Amino acid sequence: MQTQVQCSSVDPHEHAVRYAEMLAEITPPGMTRSYFGLSGTEAVENAVKLACQYTGRSEVIAVRGAHRGLSGLAVNLTSCPGWRPGRILMPGIRHAVQPNCHRCAFKPKYPSCGVACAWDIEEIIRRTTSGQIAAFIGEPLAGVSGLIRPPVEYFKIVQDITHKYGALFIADEVPTMFGRTGRYWNGSAHWAGVPDIMAIGKSIAGGTPLSGVVTTPEIANGMKVQLISTFQQNPVSLAGAIAVLEVLKEEARPSYVEAIGNEIRAGFERLTAKYPVVGNILGKGCMQGIELVKDRDTKQPFGADERGLRGNQGSRPADRRGRGQERVPLHAAARTPEGACDQGHRDPGRCHRRRAGVIGVVELSQA
Ligand SMILES: Cc1ncc(COP(=O)(O)O)c(C=O)c1O
Repeated sequence: MQTQVQCSSVDPHEHAVRYAEMLAEITPPGMTRSYFGLSGTEAVENAVKLACQYTGRSEVIAVRGAHRGLSGLAVNLTSCPGWRPGRILMPGIRHAVQPNCHRCAFKPKYPSCGVACAWDIEEIIRRTTSGQIAAFIGEPLAGVSGLIRPPVEYFKIVQDITHKYGALFIADEVPTMFGRTGRYWNGSAHWAGVPDIMAIGKSIAGGTPLSGVVTTPEIANGMKVQLISTFQQNPVSLAGAIAVLEVLKEEARPSYVEAIGNEIRAGFERLTAKYPVVGNILGKGCMQGIELVKDRDTKQPFGADERGLRGNQGSRPADRRGRGQERVPLHAAARTPEGACDQGHRDPGRCHRRRAGVIGVVELSQA
């Protein structure tokens, strides 16, 4: 044996340091501290633990329709029917309404609503918590509940409210980091604020397990308990992550994804003009889809059982209203070998291109 490698973070090894440096180059200014894990679930857990440690508080505001993973804390932060734990219930978590302008819980139309879904979070804090919350956790684009894109002002308002109450703003960027939504490396950059903590994951390391929490040195230093786990700095995963980021920088920078996303959107707009069954275009960049409805005025979803289309397994049980939603790009891609990319089996750098290419061919040619 020539070299012995420490997988846990007891001693940082070369790949972990190199990858942390690379992440610091593409994350928002000041977010220079990274901590690794093996799944998005773990990243979310660690992000929330960090916020609780830093603030000395324990209450958290999450969002309805969110999927945050499968651990005890993550399922409690989750708000999708079918994913909730049932028996392992944790106190101290409130779920705000989903910012979904197409199917608004408050009914009025954007923008005359004044982004009521964001302002309601102050009411939730004041009326249903001790007022001493540790964090708000939200995702730039809600994946599992159907690629829901919040109104552009939403996160800035929520972040201001969160800070007003002395809490941290956590962006769950597990599916949206690395340019997936186009234009920026992190999805939360589409709105003005910079998150305090970001959770990242998915195919970050080309299919080998890896996730991360990214934050500022000040917040990172708030972690006063041990967060050591056996494989968290897996050198194979980290080598994969370094390679993936190099490929992304060369072949699929966020500007490239944005251009592809615009093509996808234009194709979906043509489909909308042609087929009344297309009720709404969802998502952004290379995370787009269409929602199928029986009637555009009533927005009655196209029933999952009658549609004869294969639904996304994640979104099906998540939300009945979402049964008509098809994440068409993912399905289109899933029918090809390249589709495996979405499951994180392949290099997401090439995945961006291949998925985009497949969407371009399958969808745009139908239009
Ligand atoms: C927004 C979001 N957060 C967290 C997770 C959990 O990630 P993982 O399945 O890697 O534990 C997911 C998984 O789909 C997700 O979409």
